[in-house]
Amino acid sequence: MRKVVAGNWKMHKDRSGATDLIATLVAAKSGLPSGVEVIIAPPFPFLALAVEGVKGSAIAVAAQNCHQAAQGAYTGEVSAPMLASMGVSACLVGHSERREYFGETDLLVAQKVKALLEAGITPIYCCGEKQEERTAGRHFEVVSAQMKDALGALDPEQLMKVVVAYEPVWAIGTGLTATAAEAQEMHAFIRGLLRSHGNDVANAVPVLYGGSCKPDNAAELFAGPDVNGGLIGGAALDADQFLSIIRAAGDS
Ligand code: PGA
Repeated sequence: MRKVVAGNWKMHKDRSGATDLIATLVAAKSGLPSGVEVIIAPPFPFLALAVEGVKGSAIAVAAQNCHQAAQGAYTGEVSAPMLASMGVSACLVGHSERREYFGETDLLVAQKVKALLEAGITPIYCCGEKQEERTAGRHFEVVSAQMKDALGALDPEQLMKVVVAYEPVWAIGTGLTATAAEAQEMHAFIRGLLRSHGNDVANAVPVLYGGSCKPDNAAELFAGPDVNGGLIGGAALDADQFLSIIRAAGDS
């Protein structure tokens, strides 16, 4: 199974901070485990310098969002074909912050996933329950509905090009982490949902864990057989922390 560690910078860094972080990662990458796909997702203005900066390093560049249309009169938006034309190879979609602060629904997310696949970009599809949903014991139901609504219309060939990130909303940026057992339990459930589209799909799609994944808990989380790496927020802003998480994925 592929192992992937992706860094979601969210709305952080400026030009010089972005340049420094990219240069440090590129310089360190040669000493890192070769079996881990490393992706960085800087904000839009830094994508071009990221693509340029990672050249020759095997680090891939992702965007954090895109519009669902290929082009048009949508002031302020960025389309999937534009990202592809810039050398961006992946894009987050369905992140809980997009759902919460920008009203993104599973229907919209499904359209974005489709647009990304059409542009040849890997969608990193984020799903996960809120605290009250877990407390009510509805977490499997919620994730199952998110997976179905956003990915259900894809055929197996398309699904195999997706990366899934399970990010319990209560763990994002809070310092609360799912236990390794909670993460593995949900990842195994997601694997089962993928398996309903065929063994090829279940075996091809990495399922990443996200939500306060840090150097000190990464190894334990990644030890779960269905945990294939991580989507890292806060700890991806610091080269040493991000590199240590990548090493943990390599050792798992
Ligand atoms: P966090 O963010 O690692 O800071 O919790 C993860 C994410 O939102 O992708």
